[in-house]
This record gives sequence, C-alpha cells and structure tokens, in this order.
Amino acid sequence: MLSNKTIVLGVTGGIAAYKAAELASQLTQAGAAVSVIMTREAVQFVSPVTFRALTGRPVVTEMFDLASEFSIEHVSLARAADVVVVAPATANIIAKLAAGMADDMLCCTVLATKAPVVIAPAMETNMYENQVTQDNLSELKSRDFVVIGPAAGWLASGREGLGRLADVSDILGSIRRVLGRDGDLAGKHIVVTAGGTREPVDPVRYISNRSSGKMGYALAEAARDRGAKVSLITAPVCLNAPVGAEVIRVGTALEMRQAVENLAPRTDALVMAAAVADYRPRSAAGQKIKKGDAPLTLELEGIPDILGTVKGEFVKVGFAAESSNVIENATDKLKQKGLDLIVANDITASDSGFGTDTNQVTIIDKDGGVDSLPLLTKHEVAERILDRVAQLLAARES
Ligand code: CTP
Repeated sequence: MLSNKTIVLGVTGGIAAYKAAELASQLTQAGAAVSVIMTREAVQFVSPVTFRALTGRPVVTEMFDLASEFSIEHVSLARAADVVVVAPATANIIAKLAAGMADDMLCCTVLATKAPVVIAPAMETNMYENQVTQDNLSELKSRDFVVIGPAAGWLASGREGLGRLADVSDILGSIRRVLGRDGDLAGKHIVVTAGGTREPVDPVRYISNRSSGKMGYALAEAARDRGAKVSLITAPVCLNAPVGAEVIRVGTALEMRQAVENLAPRTDALVMAAAVADYRPRSAAGQKIKKGDAPLTLELEGIPDILGTVKGEFVKVGFAAESSNVIENATDKLKQKGLDLIVANDITASDSGFGTDTNQVTIIDKDGGVDSLPLLTKHEVAERILDRVAQLLAARES
C-alpha cells in the first residue's frame, strides 16, 4: 500500500534522528517516494547525504535554499504529500506546530498540507511529561494529528523512562493505518484470532501446536490497513502486535472462546486463523509433575468448537489445516460450522502452513465456489481473504 505514495518525512534535532534513516529506508524499499525535510538542528545529528542516498531524492534543509527543487514554491511538498511524518519530533517542533508557526520549511509544510500528519515524539522524560508538552500534543491530537509513541526504555540521558522514539515498525504501521483509513473496510469491526492455544498440564508444561500466528497477524494488519477497527485475539506468539489494533492476549482455548463471545455483539466479521486446541488435560496438576519410572497417562477432554458455536449474524471465516483430502475436509468443516468462507491449506507442503512466510490456500465459499490461489506471502493471502470479506459485507448492506 505504500507504493507510489508520496511521503514527506520531517526530521528534527534529537538523538533519535539516526533512526529516521531506517524509517526513510524502509519506506523507500516499500515503494514510497520519500522527501525528507530536515530542521537546522537535525543536520547536527545526521547528514542530509544519508537521507539523499537512502531515498534517492533531494533533501530540504533550508527554507531559502535555491539549489533545492522545492525551495521556490515552498508549499509544493505539502501539496504532493499523501502523508507527512515527523520523526523524531522534538518538544520544540511539537510546540511550534501546536502554535501554528511557520518559520522553517517543516513547519510551513505541515501548516500548508491537507494530508494527514503523523508525529513520533522523542525527548527526555521530563520534557515529555511537562504539562506544556502534553497540552501541545493534546492540541495536535484535537486537530487530527496522529501521535505514535513515545516508547519507554533507555534514553540518551542515561536514564530509563518514557521518551524513546517509537519502534520504526510501529511508525510504519501508523503510516499504513493513516493511509488506509478510508479503505473498503472502514467502519467495520473485524475480529481476528491468531496463534496456537496452550492447554496447561501442570504449572510448567502445556499442550500446544506449531502455529506461529503469522497468518492471523498478517490478517489483522491488512484489515487495519483497509480502514477496519481490528480486534486481535492472540494466543502467545513471538510477533509484534500491529499498531492500532486492539490486542487481547489469551492462553487457553476457553479464554479465546470467552474473548470471541465478548466481542460477538460488536463484530462484523470473525476470521478464526488461530489453531485452537481440540482437547485439553482433564485437570491440570497444581504442582509440577515429577518424573518416575511408571509411564504417565494424560487424560484429555474435548474443547467446544469456538467457530461452530459462537452466536451472531456476522461473517464467519474459518481455516482448515489439512494433511489429506484438503478440499473435501475443508468443505465439510465449512458446512458443519455454518461458515461463509473457509481457507483450506495443505500443511504437509513445505512452503505452506505452520511457521512459513508463504501460504498456498484454497478459499471455499458456502455456495460451493472454490478459488485455488497460487503460492503467496501470508500478507498477500490476507489481502485476498479480505477482498472476499469486503465483498460479503458489501453484499449484506445492499
Ligand atoms: N476452531 C475453533 N474451535 C476449536 C477448534 C477449531 O473455532 N476448538 C476453528 C479454527 O480456528 C479454524 C477452524 O475451526 O478456523 C478449523 O480448525 P481445524 O483445526 O482445521 O479443524 P477442527 O475443526 O479442529 O477439526 P480437525 O482437527 O478434526 O481437523
């Protein structure tokens, strides 16, 4: 979604300015045209040459730099921008933007643009927590600026606290979310489940499965990028939570079921990408089970099916992880669980299913339509599934 977008990246004078180089690089790699505006102070921290090399485009450092492509008509960048991002944003630029000042190129651009503006504050904790900075940020938020971060952690002052620039991946997520906010899922509440549930055996051990959560997280990100309000109900996984999604962390299948049911009255579409346990130990031991010579038998009991039992008129999408008779088994599941769509994948293929970044799936609908997709990244698969969800939601409204 970033390809062919024009992004103005304002870099101001804080130690986190070096991280803006990574942001500029990632935006450029994603296909965006990135025009960097540096304040006079920012140039003390990072050379404009760095941004010039990373973006392949001129870098604006002076308001009246006649060599710069943009200097003559100083609002041209403001007009061209699909989004303006200020990262890092110091207390000083935040104050200037809140006051509507126009004494440098970045302030002029922000003042002149009609594009959305994303601000990523980074500063020393006391400066951030100072009431005047908080008031300025509130003022910007009330004018529809999107503020991402700051994060907590190690600061250049040698202390720990709030004030670190948000992770570059989170700033990217914020930009994507802003760009997609009028997308085809705007106003819809999409609930996605992800990861493999964990069913406790004792305080140390659990029964789980090999789900990495990647498919569910890709779905949550893609739905967010198309304007949806996203709730991600996730079992434990090693992935960063998508910015802007409501994240509900659960452990067991029963906790996941409760979370799905809690959201059901507000759900427009439920996409169950989670690998939910079908069985759990009948009783989890209160103490760690000690090893002994005798074989150990665990008695398992069945877990109610979430998708098959959740009540509500929303669109229901399931996944079918199959190792044989993929289409037949998936079609049976679609019927048994009363689904609108089921996404079938053959988990025996080495480049599909658990843990991989790619997936080869077949989308089956309740009218018998069978759409076999080629091998795609999980993000591409997510987009294709959401194309179908968007169509189903639109059909319900018409
Ligand atoms: N599912 C669920 N609740 C469960 C088990 C599965 O909601 N207790 C959902 C999964 O999230 C998935 C779909 O049902 O979207 C199919 O899951 P899958 O594991 O492929 O199939 P099962 O129905 O569990 O059947 P089986 O394990 O026998 O293949």
